[in-house]
Amino acid sequence: MDPSFWHDRWENQDIGFHQADIHALLPAYWPRLELASDAPVFVPLCGKSLDMVWLAQQGHRVIGAELSQRAIDDFFAERGLAPTTRTSGGFIVKSAGPYELWCGDFFDLPREAVAGVAGVYDRAALIALPQALRLRYAETLASLLPATARILLITLEYEQSQMAGPPFSVPGDQVRALFAGSFRLEELECRDVLDGHPHFKQRGLTALCESAFLLRRT
Ligand SMILES: C[S@@+](CC[C@H](N)C(=O)[O-])C[C@H]1O[C@@H](n2cnc3c(N)ncnc32)[C@H](O)[C@@H]1O
Repeated sequence: MDPSFWHDRWENQDIGFHQADIHALLPAYWPRLELASDAPVFVPLCGKSLDMVWLAQQGHRVIGAELSQRAIDDFFAERGLAPTTRTSGGFIVKSAGPYELWCGDFFDLPREAVAGVAGVYDRAALIALPQALRLRYAETLASLLPATARILLITLEYEQSQMAGPPFSVPGDQVRALFAGSFRLEELECRDVLDGHPHFKQRGLTALCESAFLLRRT
């Protein structure tokens, strides 16, 4: 998507993807990454996700990357935090408490941003990207992340002809193909979630599966 697509979504507060609660699969499967509780973790395309708050509550330092400064400012404001600001590698970096959020294009993120990261949480990041960008996303993660980093990846799968993304349908086979070069994949769960998403039903979906994957370096 063009960056202006996302900037407009944030400016217009057209952010139906933002969840008011912690995603159920995060506490369910994060322990499977077997990370030290104080290990730094990375949330690509983080928005103002409350899942970052849950990760911080586990003891993690949370590094996020997000295009929209509005999203980042709202995240800090909603926590009552006043971040310090610096610039690095063309990014504006805002930090407060356990959070360090890099404002800019994920694909330009410098390696130093994620140098000590042990785990990654991807909810609505891969599936926010059109097909043409997904391999680049997987390759960028593989090249940026330290050799031992693990990823919890949550995806959606549905009949793409029934609804235009984002979120896009990214079937399990595609997830495997995208990451197979650098990661071993374990599918942790695949569940029907259409009843919990009536707005997608209204848009024409007749089935919607949510999956969680654990990715470990090969
Ligand atoms: C569907 S939202 C998901 C946000 C968050 N992961 C969540 O669960 O609420 C996708 C987010 O990615 C951001 N985004 C899209 N493309 C990006 C890019 N190339 N670099 C950084 N952020 C990007 C958008 O601004 C948007 O906030």
